[in-house]
Amino acid sequence: MMPVNGRKFVRVVKYLLAGVTVFCVSWIACVNEWHAGVRWTSSRAQLGRAMSTMRTIVAYSEGKQAEMDRPTPLTCDSLPVFPKINHIDRSWPGEARNALEWQHVAGTRVSLYAAYYDERTAQRYVRILATFHGRNYSTEGALFCQTRLRNGNLIEDTVEVVAAKPLEIWWHKWDVTPSEVDTPLLLSCPLTEPLSGPSVVSVVTEPCDNPSNAFELKPIKDTNKRTRTFTICVKDMNFDKDISQSLVEWIETNKILGVDLIDMYVDEVTEKTKRILLHYQDKGLVRLFHVPIKHKSGRSLWQRRRDHILTYNDCLYRNIKESEYIVPLDIDEVVLPKIANTWPELLNRFNNYGWNSSERSSVMIQNVFFFDFMQEVDKYSSNGRGLKSKIYIKRDDVRIKDNDTLEIDEIELIVDSNNLSNEVIDDSQEDEVLYDKYKSRCGTKLPTPKLVKHIVSSAVISPIGFYSKSWMLTKKVLTAFNHYPLQSLGASGSVGWSAPFKEVQLNHYKESCNTTVVGECARYGRRARIDRAALRLRRQLTRALADAICTGINII
Ligand SMILES: *[C@@H]1O[C@H](CO)[C@@H](O)[C@H](O)[C@H]1NC(C)=O
Ligand SMILES: *[C@@H]1O[C@H](CO)[C@@H](O)[C@H](O)[C@H]1NC(C)=O
Ligand SMILES: *[C@@H]1O[C@H](CO)[C@@H](O)[C@H](O)[C@H]1NC(C)=O
Ligand SMILES: *[C@@H]1O[C@H](CO)[C@@H](O)[C@H](O)[C@H]1NC(C)=O
Ligand SMILES: *[C@@H]1O[C@H](CO)[C@@H](O)[C@H](O)[C@H]1NC(C)=O
Repeated sequence: MMPVNGRKFVRVVKYLLAGVTVFCVSWIACVNEWHAGVRWTSSRAQLGRAMSTMRTIVAYSEGKQAEMDRPTPLTCDSLPVFPKINHIDRSWPGEARNALEWQHVAGTRVSLYAAYYDERTAQRYVRILATFHGRNYSTEGALFCQTRLRNGNLIEDTVEVVAAKPLEIWWHKWDVTPSEVDTPLLLSCPLTEPLSGPSVVSVVTEPCDNPSNAFELKPIKDTNKRTRTFTICVKDMNFDKDISQSLVEWIETNKILGVDLIDMYVDEVTEKTKRILLHYQDKGLVRLFHVPIKHKSGRSLWQRRRDHILTYNDCLYRNIKESEYIVPLDIDEVVLPKIANTWPELLNRFNNYGWNSSERSSVMIQNVFFFDFMQEVDKYSSNGRGLKSKIYIKRDDVRIKDNDTLEIDEIELIVDSNNLSNEVIDDSQEDEVLYDKYKSRCGTKLPTPKLVKHIVSSAVISPIGFYSKSWMLTKKVLTAFNHYPLQSLGASGSVGWSAPFKEVQLNHYKESCNTTVVGECARYGRRARIDRAALRLRRQLTRALADAICTGINII
């Protein structure tokens, strides 16, 4: 069961048979990622329900241990042929010739999207992002990875073949409908030795088969040093209306917060939105990629959720060497520090609360909804005092159309001012000058950002595990989904860490609760509170927008 044994054994095989032989290693023993003794710790009693979800996910990973077994040597009559390699460019808009290309594993229901070399643990892996048509991979046949060096045209004459370890990137209980789906899959192929140069990996159903697919692997040398702290991942952007204004606000906000780079996966956007994206790409603030799977009518919501998981994991593996954290976010979400000014500063402050990145795989941030229908503060009737008062108001215009029995006609507004985290920053002379200058220069009024306009939130703060988003440590996460890591690396396990709410919140700006929050709309919609935490960014953001919109981009 020790790594050394496996490695030594294989070297012998290689020495004896190099040139004509494929050696086949089944699950070599150092695969300790499946031992993950994941726990979920939190002092909050309210987390009970969220915890149970996490534990179930963990139990699934522990069941995988059983599949490990010993290396077996294997001889093929001839070396599998060298596969045809297509160079695939996923950049958006790019040439788009083969940007959406998937490769099929002949004779299976498995399709392959991308392969990455993973050096995060002493045991090196090739990780292959794939899907299979079905819901339960355990009924599918075995797959093998053939890995070989590729030195220009000089092809090495050995091929390493190992059994691929399949891991569904999904949790069955999320969706128990019987409809047909494609489920995301991570194939992990342990390597007997680190890759020594550019290589090729193919997936086959029999160890000696000639491959019908191939991916290039490029180990990057001397990049122990990560170049970025935070990289945001934005899943499949598909907007038929123009979102350029909110997009500029969101990108500028994250720039102010100290985010290094935003990886955006684009499906369909309007021409104007496209120009904004390209502008920020030119500035080096965003990278643009095609989505792994384009949206088509007829793809169910549950299928789309599976599709998005591929996007997030592509973003994860793209960044494992480059970025310390990845942060899956939508463009209606802002991770807002309430005391620190930037994310790096906030991360520093976490050390005082017991954050330890060698013990945890993610920082989880609590969600606060800002619904459009709650804004317009002046519509709430006031008792004239304001302070700590509860104001009951009758509202007829708020109705959840999806459910005739659910109607919000009464929102209780809780006003607690004099609160440090709700500090109001007054308009100043300086701002007026800025607005005037902008108007005379650009001919239009400088738009007020959503972050500044929307200051009424739901009074219900979502508990951890519900709508929360995470900073995910790339050195720890094996598979990711929208909200927290699904599987983590290492025997020490993964423990999500709940960030103190007084330090940070996720501002989630929603038009209504008729899409994702439907069932809980009554709970989230009934009580509101003034939340001015985002106003601390107002001055900086207004300045940034004044610079960006009229002079910088000049297209909105
Ligand atoms: C998947 O299939 C295996 C083998 O048929 C079965 O034991 C397991 O319970 C199935 N899992 C689910 C979630 O249906
Ligand atoms: C973080 O955790 C690791 C592993 O448990 C431990 O060795 C280290 O001392 C911890 N660091 C701090 C600053 O507590
Ligand atoms: C400020 O608001 C937070 C929650 O919104 C609350 O926990 C805290 O006690 C308040 N602080 C003051 C000084 O009122
Ligand atoms: C959701 O609500 C908004 C505003 O309340 C409305 O414009 C939109 O059509 C609704 N969408 C659906 C799917 O009901
Ligand atoms: C509609 O409201 C009823 C009664 O409150 C509830 O049982 C049902 O789950 C709701 N449906 C949706 C789609 O939210």
